[in-house]
Amino acid sequence: MNRVSLSRFLIEAQRSPSPINADLRLLIEVVARACKAISLAVNKGALGNVLGEAGSENVQGEAQKKLDVLSNEILLDANEWGGHLAALASEEMDDPHLIPNRYPKGNYLLVFDPLDGSSNIDVNVSIGTIFSVLRCPEGVTDPSADDFLQPGTRQVAAGYTVYGPSTILVLTLGNGVHQFTLDREIGSFVLTQSDLRIPEDTSEFAINMSNQRHWEAPVQRYIAELLAGREGPRGRDFNMRWVASMVADVHRILTRGGIFMYPLDAKCRDKGGKLRLLYEANPMGFIVEQAGGAASTGRERIMEVQPHTLHQRIPVILGSKNEVERVAAYHAEG
Ligand code: AHG
Ligand code: MN
Ligand code: MN
Repeated sequence: MNRVSLSRFLIEAQRSPSPINADLRLLIEVVARACKAISLAVNKGALGNVLGEAGSENVQGEAQKKLDVLSNEILLDANEWGGHLAALASEEMDDPHLIPNRYPKGNYLLVFDPLDGSSNIDVNVSIGTIFSVLRCPEGVTDPSADDFLQPGTRQVAAGYTVYGPSTILVLTLGNGVHQFTLDREIGSFVLTQSDLRIPEDTSEFAINMSNQRHWEAPVQRYIAELLAGREGPRGRDFNMRWVASMVADVHRILTRGGIFMYPLDAKCRDKGGKLRLLYEANPMGFIVEQAGGAASTGRERIMEVQPHTLHQRIPVILGSKNEVERVAAYHAEG
């Protein structure tokens, strides 16, 4: 079998008719290397003393786990010195992190959720890393938070790593979605699936049902119809899955279809939603659209939302196209 490593895939992307530039290649390689280090730490678990609370809070008032902090540090350390970035921003840092003056600066901005699914760390359930790559605006040498406030349509690349039974990196450079599996013996990510496609129809949904009483009417209607199954208006049974790690739920949808929802509800209305626009909704929206799916807030396409703050939250409805469009239609009907 002729195996294609991530490095080879990226070098070939550099030689393609619409070539990626060398800095972007380096950036993806560096993020992938950092994800390998995070994967190792995750696998060591209690033996590596990486489980449990860090004893601190992030800017959003959430208790940080040791692995949230460690993963953030791994991504920062890996990306600081390569010369490909102007700045980084993360769920776990209040403000953007500028590249120190002792290192060269590049033209990209990297924004990430270093460890997604924190509530699953200590129970040995799949978790992940999500990242998004933007261009630093022309002429800006010391980017501020405002420079990160670009709609998702401006993403140059996006990806996630899921630390599950195997470690898998899923990547889009705006030209389809590709999947790489970590070969631990060789220490490299190997292409295991090109051009992932999300089926347009599905009979599987993912939502935290415990929030049902807080949902808005369009989501109440949609889920009630799914739950009614064969006897209801949809005329067939639907299955439910909720891992509570967005990466794992999205990965399942990329693999076999489905719809994932963290809609607006009365509990999170004041914050605008639960999931974060810049480092959760946008990169996942980009990946899902590149795989033929759709990503909406219920009222608009996620990738067209103009962000106002770095840690902005947003409702997320994504996955199989026909289901996402149906939920959006229910919102439009009011
Ligand atoms: P994070 O661990 O980065 O804060 O993100 C957790 C998110 C997401 O991964 C998941 O879909 C959702 O929170 C789970 O929320 P509930 O605990 O409300 O189910
Ligand atoms: Mn997250
Ligand atoms: Mn996180």
